[in-house]
Amino acid sequence: MTEPGELLLSVRDLRTEFRTDAGVVKAVDGVSYDVYENEVVGIVGESGSGKSVTAMSIMGLVPDPPGRITSGQAVWKGRDLIGLDDKALRGVRGGEIAVVFQDPMSSLNPVHTVGRQIAEMVRLHRRASRKQAAERAVEMMDLVGIPQARRRARSYPHEFSGGMRQRVMIAMALSCEPDLLIADEPTTALDVTIQAQVLELLQEVKERTSSAILLITHDLGVVAGMADQVLVMYAGKAVERGSAPEVFHRSQHPYTLGLLSSLPRVDEDAGTRLRPIQGTPPSLIHLPPGCSFHPRCPFARTPAPCVTDEPPLEEAVTPGHAAACHFAEEVSAADVLAPSPSSSADTP
Ligand SMILES: Nc1ncnc2c1ncn2[C@@H]1O[C@H](COP(=O)(O)OP(=O)(O)OP(=O)(O)O)[C@@H](O)[C@H]1O
Ligand SMILES: [Mg+2]
Repeated sequence: MTEPGELLLSVRDLRTEFRTDAGVVKAVDGVSYDVYENEVVGIVGESGSGKSVTAMSIMGLVPDPPGRITSGQAVWKGRDLIGLDDKALRGVRGGEIAVVFQDPMSSLNPVHTVGRQIAEMVRLHRRASRKQAAERAVEMMDLVGIPQARRRARSYPHEFSGGMRQRVMIAMALSCEPDLLIADEPTTALDVTIQAQVLELLQEVKERTSSAILLITHDLGVVAGMADQVLVMYAGKAVERGSAPEVFHRSQHPYTLGLLSSLPRVDEDAGTRLRPIQGTPPSLIHLPPGCSFHPRCPFARTPAPCVTDEPPLEEAVTPGHAAACHFAEEVSAADVLAPSPSSSADTP
């Protein structure tokens, strides 16, 4: 873990909706967090909790219609990105903030060589001759550990394995030396060994370039291995926020506890049953009243306060560690296990 530097990104009360035939989907419902230089911020939560939309909203990538950012700010180096026009956003995107998505195949152009695609990205964001850009592409491929980079730059995306394609995406994202790299499930499509290598690469990149990383994943092990700060999302809301040790070792929200106890652990006896969280995430069109998590919560007291009052995200127990639970103190006293990092990326 590195010392954090300047505040880069400050997201406040972000709300993003989708208008669908079935009703209004509140995909992101009042989310706030900060990202500092040199810092890895992990966003975790079940599928559909709003992790990707949170990131897409900042980058102006929410399709409108059906999507709409209804309120909030995303202040990047002093400038609010929400509501910026497309031209201004394009300058930030790829240049100062770069994104790596889950499925590299859909983000790469199948008819151009990988080297050309990285070089184009370089030329889009900095002054460079064709030759310089091509050279930079080879350097970047080398940096992300693609063997025989010069030769491989002339290959097409389909000629790469999944792990190597993800490296290409990371090379492309890093070629403009972004201050923030948003990695949305960067390893989900990869097998475990390759996953560990890509995470190690991200960690190395962070150390070498001092860029910040916003790491979005449903894999708590990945976050435990890499993140400095963690934001836990449930049904479009941030339910817990704090440093990784605080959130994992002194969880204050029952949902975080549930995520942790549904993880397989290497140090438990074989045959120990996993304890999945009961029930399913709610519809984002018809959220339960009060605390959205109450129907699944072992700590819930009904009707009051859990069904009647929505708990605010607040630092009620420990400074710097916020949870949206009426019984945060009680939850933090409950005895649970923290995840063992699922990667080798936690080595200092
Ligand atoms: N274009 C869209 N139209 C309608 N609803 C959408 C659209 N994009 C996302 N949503 C809804 O917004 C909610 C949040 O989606 P999001 O993709 O952010 O989830 P996620 O946490 O990233 O999940 P996953 O782990 O599966 O990637 C979901 O309920 C999803 O159905
Ligand atoms: Mg997603």
